[in-house]
Amino acid sequence: MTQLQSFLLTCTVAHVMLLFALATPDAAYPPPYGLDQSWTTTTTASASSADDLIPVRREVYGGGRIIDISHRYHSEMPSWESDDGLGHFLWLAKTMKNGSLSNNSEMKLPAHTGTHVDAPGHVYDHYFDAGFDVDTLDLDVLNGPALLVDVPRDKNITAEVMKSLHIPKGVRRVLFRTLNTDRGLMYKKAFDTSYVGFMKDGAQWLVNNTDIKLVGIDYLSVAAFDDLIPSHLVFLEGKEIILVEGLKLDDVQPGIYSVHCLPLRLVGAEGSPIRCILMK
Ligand SMILES: *[C@@H]1O[C@H](CO)[C@@H](O)[C@H](O)[C@H]1NC(C)=O
Ligand SMILES: *[C@@H]1O[C@H](CO)[C@@H](O)[C@H](O)[C@H]1NC(C)=O
Ligand SMILES: *[C@@H]1O[C@H](CO)[C@@H](O)[C@H](O)[C@H]1NC(C)=O
Ligand SMILES: *[C@@H]1O[C@H](CO)[C@@H](O)[C@H](O)[C@H]1NC(C)=O
Repeated sequence: MTQLQSFLLTCTVAHVMLLFALATPDAAYPPPYGLDQSWTTTTTASASSADDLIPVRREVYGGGRIIDISHRYHSEMPSWESDDGLGHFLWLAKTMKNGSLSNNSEMKLPAHTGTHVDAPGHVYDHYFDAGFDVDTLDLDVLNGPALLVDVPRDKNITAEVMKSLHIPKGVRRVLFRTLNTDRGLMYKKAFDTSYVGFMKDGAQWLVNNTDIKLVGIDYLSVAAFDDLIPSHLVFLEGKEIILVEGLKLDDVQPGIYSVHCLPLRLVGAEGSPIRCILMK
């Protein structure tokens, strides 16, 4: 390939990527629905070498066998009590353009960003001091059969709501899908305190009456904003229940799956970003 050819190819790639960015109104801030289709059809429509340079971003793998229930980390994603989203958290510390042998990014983000897990030290100082960090969370709880349930859309998760769900004894992992998913809250930049979560009595009912050890929810906290600390205290007191927050539960049928969640081994951290998938 001559230098001119390679230059032209680079231009074409840049052009295609620009068009792609324009065609996707908010590429950095994907809409809740239809993302999979729009991004994959773009890449499968043509087999030209320029298109090969457009990465495929998926929600589902293996023909539906693996469903990604984690959200992408990007600057416009919601961040706790921020109107402006997460903001700039990732940058190139070393770049090939500036003479480095490789591109090397660095990042800085709150441990409770996006799809993440809470460790007991999050709301209990003595657990924090004793070292109950995310590295001590039980991977046996974070991986195994799980139930995805829809909760009534007109209430927060109270004891009454928990009772009405009739979750059988023996079920250890439940992902609660709420109005938060319908409202697409995880796709909105501004933090919204009106999200649905557990009220204290709902958390207490779960602890008293079920075998649930993994509690998953579709916004940044399992606890409703009005009962933020009381609900967390109830869940984390026994050090057995693991809270997975900010899950992406769009376009998934309710039912039984195998859930797989893996936090980073951040020693001393009471929270960690977590990658979660469902397998059929
Ligand atoms: C990153 O690396 C690629 C080569 O792999 C290079 O073309 C690109 O310019 C680099 N990006 C920056 C910002 O330096
Ligand atoms: C490369 O270095 C220049 C000059 O120091 C700086 O202005 C520019 O931001 C750097 N580019 C990247 C991608 O780091
Ligand atoms: C849930 O509670 C929040 C306050 O924490 C409130 O703003 C919201 O309206 C409640 N949602 C429903 C559906 O009742
Ligand atoms: C949970 O159990 C305790 C004592 O066993 C009881 O006092 C409390 O009312 C129960 N709460 C709920 C919501 O079931």
